[in-house]
Amino acid sequence: MTQITEIAQDVYRISTFVPEANLQFNQFLVRDEQPLLFHTGMKRLFPVVRDAVATLLPPETIRWIGFSHFEADECGALRKWQTLAPSATAVCSLVAKSVSVDDVVALRAAQPLEDGQQISTGKYRFRFLQTPHVPHCWEAGLLFEETQRTLLCSDLFHQNGDVEPSTTADVVGRFRQMLVEYQQGPFANYLPYTNRTEPTLKRLAALKPRTLATMHGSTFVGDGERAIADLAQAMKDVLVERS
Ligand SMILES: [Fe+2]
Ligand SMILES: [Fe+2]
Repeated sequence: MTQITEIAQDVYRISTFVPEANLQFNQFLVRDEQPLLFHTGMKRLFPVVRDAVATLLPPETIRWIGFSHFEADECGALRKWQTLAPSATAVCSLVAKSVSVDDVVALRAAQPLEDGQQISTGKYRFRFLQTPHVPHCWEAGLLFEETQRTLLCSDLFHQNGDVEPSTTADVVGRFRQMLVEYQQGPFANYLPYTNRTEPTLKRLAALKPRTLATMHGSTFVGDGERAIADLAQAMKDVLVERS
């Protein structure tokens, strides 16, 4: 039920489909000298994610744990990971660290990253982008792996259902459909559209990512600049024009 796919060299998508939510929850493991896990998943996913990681590298060697914002699917199992991996340090925005992470979920103090700050895991280099309210939450940030142009994009490009691990076909149509469906149910207003949304998405598009590693749904491989521009239009259409 948990599926592992290499979506870029040394970047593994560990995906667990949760039928009651009709959602995949994807973690991304970067195999390098200092292994990095992006998103821990919820606490209840910890055993299956740990076992999946163990097929790729010793889970206790995880050095960095990144995530976008303070939600259970992003960092719920952080404490479990830090109990297992003695050097595992959370990396997130100063807002995330100060407002929630250190007090609520971290076993050890998180390392805050400034906007634009780079961390190296060995072969790979990650740029931290502070993206308040994109995809959502004040403390939001994203990581961009610069050598292979992989954007770890959290809830951006969210697609419902048990979809294929990776695709070169358009995923914005499915993202748009998710937004429309969510607007009609208890999860309405999932993503905000603020005066920060368009400039932030333009900044992400300008990175020209080759791989868009989304937390829910298929990873997109292709023209990431175009895909983010399309995503921005879909958000505007559904969240502004129709509201
Ligand atoms: Fe989220
Ligand atoms: Fe999420």
